[in-house]
Amino acid sequence: MNIDSRSRSTRGDCADTGRIVLVSNRVALPGETQTGGLAVALAAAMDDGPALWLGWSGRIASDARLPLETMRAGRLEYALLDLPADDFEAYYHGFANRVLWPLFHYRIDLVDYHREQHEAWLRVNRRFAEALAGQLRADDTVWIHDYHLIPLARCLRELRVGNRIGFFLHIPMPPPDVLCALPAHRDLLGALACYDLAGFQTRADLDNYRHALRQQGIASHGRSGAFPIGIDVEAVAAQARSGEAERAEHELRASLSGRRLAIGVDRLDYSKGLPERFRAFERHLESGASSAGQLTYLQIAPPSRTRVPEYQDVRRELEGLAGHINGRHAKPEWTPIRYVNDSFPQPVLAGFHRAAAIGLVTPLRDGMNLVAKEYLAAQSPRDPGVLVLSRFAGAAEELAEALIVNPHDLDAVAEAIDAAAGMPLRERQDRWQALMARLRGNDVGHWARHFLDTLRAEPPRCGGGAITTALPGPHAGALAGVSLR
Ligand code: G6P
Repeated sequence: MNIDSRSRSTRGDCADTGRIVLVSNRVALPGETQTGGLAVALAAAMDDGPALWLGWSGRIASDARLPLETMRAGRLEYALLDLPADDFEAYYHGFANRVLWPLFHYRIDLVDYHREQHEAWLRVNRRFAEALAGQLRADDTVWIHDYHLIPLARCLRELRVGNRIGFFLHIPMPPPDVLCALPAHRDLLGALACYDLAGFQTRADLDNYRHALRQQGIASHGRSGAFPIGIDVEAVAAQARSGEAERAEHELRASLSGRRLAIGVDRLDYSKGLPERFRAFERHLESGASSAGQLTYLQIAPPSRTRVPEYQDVRRELEGLAGHINGRHAKPEWTPIRYVNDSFPQPVLAGFHRAAAIGLVTPLRDGMNLVAKEYLAAQSPRDPGVLVLSRFAGAAEELAEALIVNPHDLDAVAEAIDAAAGMPLRERQDRWQALMARLRGNDVGHWARHFLDTLRAEPPRCGGGAITTALPGPHAGALAGVSLR
């Protein structure tokens, strides 16, 4: 596969070939502080359009048929959809976040399946489809994002929408044996197979998808590929040098009384491995290593999906652990773990990252984890910190020069913390430069161009507009075995 997409900008393409229409449950409105990777990444990829971004307004409406709210920021238009209370509860807090999220993160034990919630999820997808169909022009390219909206292409085809439609899964794709725990797994795979292009974060995710299709005997109508998502490397580096970041860095450093900082920045989610990370830091404190007692660990963990019981459980667990570990190891003038349930603007986070000698990114399972990339991009080239990264984050496929750990092995994580604290400057610079070269070679603009160029290489179903057939096209399966990295 030889796609020379770097010579053309995402934005420039749009003028030639129609708008890009993004669809996701969560939309990043200008000026809002975001805590999820998806919204930050899409905003960075599409910040100067022309494009339309359609998603949930964040509001619950009793009147199901309200017109969409629209707004514009530069060349990017937004179309926002209210959702009815009952359906929203079952769709978002139910099927999306108590079935699909745990299942796709390999946590079958946390899945709580109810057939009526599955039906509400399908209803909400039909509602998105109706709202979207009313906004589409014949030459638009539609790009749908994440697990909330898997059935959307199928719903759009039922409405006779013939535009090219791509899908990107931001979270992991589990292997068939895990996926099969979902009663409706065949229906879900069939919905994914309706896309002209289905994209995954890693080669392993792509293999899991293709394996599941084969195992279930489902023929895909379109292509599939691995498109590891990146960040806007130069924008994060510039943010880290901004006045706002410098102030945040300076104040944080001043508060450390000469100690060095280890940082974690994660939505408060059980997939992030935070209890294991707290315990590993305790193991480090008790290890007798020379760096023990010389590091302060700052964990930023903005609460997320707070009405879902499993999120309440992990929050309680972390509060207990932070209290326990600090109670045992704090000194009158020092608290080993600073645990902050708040979100911060991107420049402030970049300043915090620059202040940290160690970045801890140790999820039990993660689609990519863009925080790992943001930590690296925010470092000072003269004195870069060290990334400790879980092998179960999608980012580990690309970031081999980080200290790769198994987050279940608390002793190994504690040793990695000590190794990171003691790493000589020259080695830190060598590793960091290699990692940055990788990030620059696949930034978020490249990711978006690569996906969209691949999608647009397919002929539209019927030149856009109405569709008369959904039979597999001549290119079906053309990318089999190709990792589109
Ligand atoms: C992850 C998901 C996104 C989601 C984000 C924040 O990054 O992949 O789809 O938007 O978490 O979660 P929330 O439930 O607040 O949208």
